[in-house]
Amino acid sequence: MKITPSILNADLADLAGEVARVPSSDMIHFDVMDNHFVPNLTVGLPVVESLKKHTKIPIDVHLMIENADTWAPKYAEVGCESVTFHVEAAKAPIRLARELRKLGTRASMALKPATPIEPYADIISEFDMLLLMTVEPGFGGQSFLDSVLPKIRRTRELVQGTGQEIWIQVDGGISVDTIERAAEAGADVFVAGTAVYRAENPDQMVNDLRDLAISACNH
Ligand code: DX5
Ligand code: ZN
Repeated sequence: MKITPSILNADLADLAGEVARVPSSDMIHFDVMDNHFVPNLTVGLPVVESLKKHTKIPIDVHLMIENADTWAPKYAEVGCESVTFHVEAAKAPIRLARELRKLGTRASMALKPATPIEPYADIISEFDMLLLMTVEPGFGGQSFLDSVLPKIRRTRELVQGTGQEIWIQVDGGISVDTIERAAEAGADVFVAGTAVYRAENPDQMVNDLRDLAISACNH
């Protein structure tokens, strides 16, 4: 059970300081948006490259960008430990996953809420993690979509069928009110932006969320 705080809702002018506030995190979730794949713009490659010099916590980059085939490997080259691209934005997801793994990073594929997992059932072994969005990507602070829960369950079954350890990450609206439902359905990596950075004690919230996920998990 891993908790990966999203910096989207942190103070972007003090990223190093914000990351230092959550030392119990398993990874830091770094949201990259290009104002094309999603209607919002954040930060990109030079910023993550700078941030890496300030923290030892692994970086889990989530690319909400077009041209994933061109850009994703560059994030692996600067040392991001996990690189997630959206399957809706990739021209050749298998080739890209293999390229990322060859560069020494964990390869991960993200699906928007309305994108089914079934068309990708035969290629999930190419990945170290599958990210199932539990809000429409683009903004922090949205409400968790319960309609994604059946897809989390089906994805857990597919992963079990591979016999491999493929993580299932959920992203969007994760809080003390929703994390148990997502964990019970089969998720094991949880992004939390607002819940962590709006908490009085962000690091305590990371540990509280992890405890809730562990107690709800039955897989
Ligand atoms: C949304 C981003 C998320 C976002 C999560 O498109 O991918 O990572 O920051 O924020 P919360 O936890 O507030 O929904
Ligand atoms: Zn994200």
